[in-house]
Amino acid sequence: MVSDSDIARAARRLRDAERLVVLTGAGVSKESGVPTFRDALEGYWAQFDPQDLATPDAFLRNPKLVWDWYESRRNLLASVRPNPGHYALADLEDLFPQVVIVTQNVDGLHRAAGSSDVIELHGDITQHRCYDNCQGNPTLIDIHELDWNREKGPPPCPHCGAFVRPNVVWFNEMLPPGALERAVELAKAADAVIVVGTSGMVQPAASLPYYARWHGDAYLIDVNPERDEIAPICDLFLQGPSGEVLPRLVQALRGSP
Ligand code: OAD
Repeated sequence: MVSDSDIARAARRLRDAERLVVLTGAGVSKESGVPTFRDALEGYWAQFDPQDLATPDAFLRNPKLVWDWYESRRNLLASVRPNPGHYALADLEDLFPQVVIVTQNVDGLHRAAGSSDVIELHGDITQHRCYDNCQGNPTLIDIHELDWNREKGPPPCPHCGAFVRPNVVWFNEMLPPGALERAVELAKAADAVIVVGTSGMVQPAASLPYYARWHGDAYLIDVNPERDEIAPICDLFLQGPSGEVLPRLVQALRGSP
């Protein structure tokens, strides 16, 4: 577990920052009860093959399987709440002029915790859209207004009849329009980047700290119980669960002169 002196060091280095970017991954939601993807035992990808569940081909091959898997994840999320890590990140807005959360998570927990500027690189699992985006990108559909036979899988788009699908990004797909571009510009201009709970194995999200490192002048902090792919380029590695490390960091920032 990270020492008090490393927390104090992080707080000292962050104190004068004006533009903060926080890149988060599944680890930040783990203490809320949401599984990560690459945990060797409990991660989603330890149990399922992403090629069967998280690609456009998988959906077209077996729409009901993919739809039902996302439905089960949505049902799980209906009962989870933000944890102290999410709240600590929301609290950063009291301490810095600009804080932008760039998340790979689709669970909406940063917004639920009160973060006001959240870029959701991989979409939002609570939303749905037309598979063909027939009315423009994205063509969001409120499935609560639809009546369809759930035994058959996803409903048809009320505009064009294509399948309705979750509004998330699958492997081999583009990120939501403008999301990556804004995140890259913010990373380049950041005074500090805090990376939280990501293995750093999925592009392009994982390249954001590199933009900050090589094109900008940011101080980089990584928060994770395990050393991840991004740790080697960071200035400081704060080892531990984000629900414990981030509240300590906020407390130190509040206390620092
Ligand atoms: P991963 O499952 O790859 O990594 C989760 C990270 O969280 C690991 O580095 C863990 O060590 C760390 N972790 C575990 N518990 C933690 C805790 N309590 N506090 C902080 N960190 C903790 O998840 P992501 O990096 O988010 O994409 O995965 C990136 C993308 O791969 C996901 O958005 C998803 C997935 O396939 C798509 O579905 C497109």
